[in-house]
Amino acid sequence: MHPLILKMNAFYVLISLGILFQPGDTGSPRINGTDQVFTVQTSTTEETKLIYQLYLNGEYDFWTAPLRGGSHVDIMARAGQVYDLTDFLQSHGLNYSVKFSDVRSLIREEQRQNEVTRSTRLGRISWDRYATFHEISAWLKSLNTSYSTVSIIGYSSQHRPIYAVTFSTGGPPKKSVLIDANIHAREWIAGATATWIINELAVNTTVYLDILKEIDIHIVPIMNPDGYVHTHSGGIQARLWRKTRSVQSGSKCVGCDPNRNFGFHWDGESTSSDPCSDIYRGVAPFSEPEVAALVEFVTTLEKEGASFLAYLTLHAYGKVWLLPWGYTQGVYPDDYADQLSLGQAAIAAVQSIHGTRYHTGQGADLLYGVGGASDDFMKNHGIKYTATVEMRGDSFILPPAQIVPNAQEVWAGIQEYFKRVIVTS
Ligand code: ARG
Ligand code: ZN
Repeated sequence: MHPLILKMNAFYVLISLGILFQPGDTGSPRINGTDQVFTVQTSTTEETKLIYQLYLNGEYDFWTAPLRGGSHVDIMARAGQVYDLTDFLQSHGLNYSVKFSDVRSLIREEQRQNEVTRSTRLGRISWDRYATFHEISAWLKSLNTSYSTVSIIGYSSQHRPIYAVTFSTGGPPKKSVLIDANIHAREWIAGATATWIINELAVNTTVYLDILKEIDIHIVPIMNPDGYVHTHSGGIQARLWRKTRSVQSGSKCVGCDPNRNFGFHWDGESTSSDPCSDIYRGVAPFSEPEVAALVEFVTTLEKEGASFLAYLTLHAYGKVWLLPWGYTQGVYPDDYADQLSLGQAAIAAVQSIHGTRYHTGQGADLLYGVGGASDDFMKNHGIKYTATVEMRGDSFILPPAQIVPNAQEVWAGIQEYFKRVIVTS
């Protein structure tokens, strides 16, 4: 017998034994029964474009946005997609490695850890674990310092409050800075960093009095409470939810990417009109109540005399400090030199704390263009300094031991914004 026929026979024997094909499979070989994350290296422009097309096509969950300059991107394939993705990567000759071979067990481990360290005292949170929305709410409600005020700036689709904490020494409205976090649900480090900063300002107020004499600081720690709750209590499948949880009429898919829903270059680059996409822009600008609430918060304070000079939005992950404009490559605001010098000062301050190295630059030059994002909207609205901060980590599942060091370094970067705002007239 010809050796090839022998080999083929062996192949069919394996199939008939059910070893290569599992019952219920649609036909692709079962390489691994769980979701996996791949790091894909791109070097040529063609490779980079190919990966960007894959991102837009929406089939896979991109854990990091593709970088225009190539290098690397993290892509998750669900169990049933692992074969297709590796086949795609191989057939295009792309370099890749398996970053996480079992995402579900990663999540299970995170949930176990968070459960073990759960605090019994409501009204208190700590930064050695990720707090639930319920815990954060209770903590905020009990926050009571001489210079802080907790307010509700609006409600999510599922009627959860969106909290803002304002630090102010009072008197007439001042120069103001706005920081928000966790607009994307799964980026838990973002909300944890924002609550750490709130706590830092609340506990060590005297250290920051010189700053607070000059500026009011507004922090919205959980911009997307519905999504955040979903990632905590929706089980393993829900941990990686990114969007809001709004019902989309005419679609069985839920949620909108709130960072595509702002009314500046809405429906622009890296956005989708498909409600099932992770970068769905919504039916109209500001269709998401969370997005509308943030904008109304700013405009209301402005009417009362506040002048916002900086807006920072905390995301994960990538260690990039993204400057305007972010909607398309190669366009810069008139004051870009100011943006860049501040971005560079910020990442130098970040690095000085624990050595973490960030990159800074125009958002769409570093990543791809993104329309309808909050940073550009706020810049166009008239806030001079805006930035999207993609913080440290190599996953959304970041060990809680990194919350404090991350917060310390990001806080150092943010304080460069305060310094600059104080000297800006
Ligand atoms: N990773 C962020 C996102 O996809 C980046 C947004 C940066 N902003 C921008 N206008 N490019 O939402
Ligand atoms: Zn994000």
